Amino acid sequence: MSSLNSINSVLKESRRFKPSNQFVKTAFINSAKKYLELWKKSIKSPDSFWKKQANESLVWAKPFSKTLEWKLPHAKWFVGGKINVAYNCIDRHVEAGLGNKAAIIWEGEDGTRRILTYNELLNEVSQCANALMELGVSSGDRVSIYMPLIPEAVVSMLACARIGAMHSVIFGGFSSDALADRNNDAQSKLVITADGGFRKGSFLSLKDNVDEALKKSSSVQKVLVFKRSDRACKMKDGRDYWWHDIVYRQSIHSKCKPFDSEHPLFLLYTSGSTGKPKGIVHTSAGYLLGATISFKYIFDIKVSDTFWCTADVGWITGHTYVTYGPLSNGASIVMYEGAPNFPDWGRFWSIIERYKVSIFYTAPTAIRACIKAGDDWPKKYDLSSLRILGTVGEPINPEAWLWYHEVIGNKKCPIVDTWWQTETGSAMITPLPGAIVTTPGTATVPFFGIEPEIVDKAGKPVKKGHGGFLVIKKPWPSMLRTIWGDDERYVHQYWSQIPGCYFTGDGARQDKHGNYWILGRIDDVLNVSGHRLSTMEIESTLVSHHAVAEAAVVGKPDDIKGEAIVCFVSLKSGFKASEELKLELQTHVAKQIGALARPDQIRLSDSLPKTRSGKIMRRLLRDIAAGKVSTQDTSTLEDFAVLAALRQDDDI
Ligand code: WT7
Repeated sequence: MSSLNSINSVLKESRRFKPSNQFVKTAFINSAKKYLELWKKSIKSPDSFWKKQANESLVWAKPFSKTLEWKLPHAKWFVGGKINVAYNCIDRHVEAGLGNKAAIIWEGEDGTRRILTYNELLNEVSQCANALMELGVSSGDRVSIYMPLIPEAVVSMLACARIGAMHSVIFGGFSSDALADRNNDAQSKLVITADGGFRKGSFLSLKDNVDEALKKSSSVQKVLVFKRSDRACKMKDGRDYWWHDIVYRQSIHSKCKPFDSEHPLFLLYTSGSTGKPKGIVHTSAGYLLGATISFKYIFDIKVSDTFWCTADVGWITGHTYVTYGPLSNGASIVMYEGAPNFPDWGRFWSIIERYKVSIFYTAPTAIRACIKAGDDWPKKYDLSSLRILGTVGEPINPEAWLWYHEVIGNKKCPIVDTWWQTETGSAMITPLPGAIVTTPGTATVPFFGIEPEIVDKAGKPVKKGHGGFLVIKKPWPSMLRTIWGDDERYVHQYWSQIPGCYFTGDGARQDKHGNYWILGRIDDVLNVSGHRLSTMEIESTLVSHHAVAEAAVVGKPDDIKGEAIVCFVSLKSGFKASEELKLELQTHVAKQIGALARPDQIRLSDSLPKTRSGKIMRRLLRDIAAGKVSTQDTSTLEDFAVLAALRQDDDI
């Protein structure tokens, strides 16, 4: 564990924003008192709290007999119960007469528009489920989903859920190598993809990446391909199947088989501090309950709302707040395939105006990019349909918060800054919009049933106002169950750092109002544009290049992305530093991992600064990257000899 000094908070923000009387009037939870009462009850008697929530919010095929079986650190929630997640997200709404309500309102980057009602979603998911079975997928099998942000991505996820197969969604911006690694780790049987998708005006050929990946992932037997464009697309006989050939000829009826509460629902890969991506395992009933009730209370969802979460389905946000949370609540969601600046920076706002979006949920990095593009863009559009704004992915700086509040929310929309992780499954620390007074930069208070604490290295609570490690003291239904194929790593990483508690890997402090301020990651994981990237993974990718001897990757504060990626690289003898080589290394990383991981800066040196014990002096490199130590930035080659000598005992 690294020192917490490096993430000491410098924020001194204290402005307080109350929800308006008008908002409070219709809110589910309409006062801090009510929130606190319910929260205290949920912590004092978690069993009865969760039991009540599970019975009221979900439809069970067979009732559960026990709320929680907790053998630290392994949890079984709602033991004995049987449930079908897809039934809860679709069929129950159709049965309740909501069949003609819009489920997915979709806009492609190229301007294509589609609306799927709950009836249509049920038909498509049933057909897709039947097709998956015809392609040999059965309960417990893993299916990789590598798609653009189109309705069929959600249809595929729900079709897997319907037949009890686990989906593993791989972000469409990841490279073929990243896809191959994830296919292999999960031993996926099938890949669902599209010929490609539109992003920033160009067509990204996903199917080509799948073809590349399949050279290295032998577990995959078949590929189901949705046709998104008119372009030619190579198909391999006997392996590749067009969606329109195989899905649309299936029956629109499919039986919803009940599965055990703890039946695995999906796997989602995320970066950890030891390099290899971790397959986070979520299971059925507990995950769905977390997604369902957090969505209901945090977004105060009403039948008339139109909800838009801009996240891609490749991230946990796209699982919980594009797919499972909204659909389980019978909400109408907006989905947009492309980039926020295509064809111009008005795209987000035009979508809000066109579909009268009432709840908008995005990432601070997107907000900062929009600020940079200028206020003229949002001002061109009618954003008066908005009533709640949300953020997720990283701490939001007060300047961005205030802009969001004033320019987008017209000072009338509460902002919910939601803290959570791939591992937590649903939002954990967040305001409830009609109950909690917010201050820019804090995710405020714990959600029902969640008991956070801020502790020191020994696990002792720190004094109020002091920084420390954020831990969660009690299990909760949507928590991860294990790491796919590596339960030891699960135990070690999450439950052994502070014995008995779930270790989040984030630093935090609590202010005098009880608000939690997240101070960022304390491990070697960067947060780039709201997404975790492992420095180790980027380092080993760099070292796989023939010219590279050693590499150290650190983050540097960045106005838009939160953190920029700076790589210090020492070359093998015989290789000369040059601008071309730097460019080549940047491209190498982008190609191996994906464009998201493309280094912002490559700095070449003869050797890397190390302590006597041989550890790379990361803090020194972080300072240099941030420009805190003067170096000859303009030269292609850094000389660390002097600096290293100055900092010999810096053992970080
Ligand atoms: C890490 C989790 C949860 C979906 C998106 C990212 C950071 C997330 C906030 C927030 C401050 C935040 C944390 C966390 N984070 N939300 N509202 N305020 N930090 O999921 O890739 O699993 O990353 O993102 O550092 O640990 P993820």
